[in-house]
Amino acid sequence: MLELTGIAKRFGGVQALAGIDYAVSAGRVHSVIGPNGAGKTTLFNVITGVYRPSEGTVKLHGEVVSGRSPDQLARRGVARTFQNLQICHHMNALENVMVGAHLRLSQRLLPALLHLPGLRRADGGCREEAMELMRFVGVHEYALRLAEALPYGVLKRLEIARALALKPRLLFLDEPAAGLNPTEKGAMRELIRSIAQSGVTVVLVEHDMKLVMGVSDHVLVLDYGRKLAEGTAEEVRANPAVIAAYLGAGAAGATLQ
Ligand SMILES: Nc1ncnc2c1ncn2[C@@H]1O[C@H](COP(=O)(O)OP(=O)(O)OP(=O)(O)O)[C@@H](O)[C@H]1O
Ligand SMILES: [Mg+2]
Repeated sequence: MLELTGIAKRFGGVQALAGIDYAVSAGRVHSVIGPNGAGKTTLFNVITGVYRPSEGTVKLHGEVVSGRSPDQLARRGVARTFQNLQICHHMNALENVMVGAHLRLSQRLLPALLHLPGLRRADGGCREEAMELMRFVGVHEYALRLAEALPYGVLKRLEIARALALKPRLLFLDEPAAGLNPTEKGAMRELIRSIAQSGVTVVLVEHDMKLVMGVSDHVLVLDYGRKLAEGTAEEVRANPAVIAAYLGAGAAGATLQ
């Protein structure tokens, strides 16, 4: 579905990614893990068109898409959430999700989105679709509340609903469980499973190993912008290089939970 070859990304003297080869297969849950600054978000930014890679190519269904803009990628079925929430705080929750649906339905509607009255006149089908997605992610009871008044855990789910409104085939989640309590993390794991079961291929960046190990068919481990390991959750968890990167060299015999 997605194939990266020799991806490098430099920011001045910082080599955020160095020669990454990576493939994402349809219908599976993939995770990208690694210590802070390993290049995980940069990898998402390169794949979703936020950054152009310094080297290498990204192919989506065989088509080279590196250098395409985020909206061009969205039209090809690629959606994402952000490590730092990107929510319109002055809109209510439902309107935030409708933004995603409108982006899919028509680029020409974009000016209308910037005016709340325009958005309120938007067609009922779009509104109903957004409500349905809010039900799916479990935040429908907050539909008419201003986003700025909502708890963090609700906003994390709201962002996922907005991304799903693009009707993606490939969904990137950057730290969906960060800042959530244990109960919310368990619910996030179930939500990710439901999304995958609905036919969307999911790639997540996540620090919570319990979540990663619980949902992933495939795990890619980055360290200092390089691929340290990849494989099934079991393979990666048992990999001494991965354990050392997480727990420090000399952590022989330690285990990743
Ligand atoms: N826009 C940018 N300009 C300059 N340097 C950047 C930029 N974006 C990322 N970097 C640098 O690239 C490296 C990788 O950053 P990245 O955000 O991809 O890491 P990460 O694995 O997502 O980390 P975290 O787990 O903390 O979110 C870091 O050294 C970071 O400072
Ligand atoms: Mg990050």
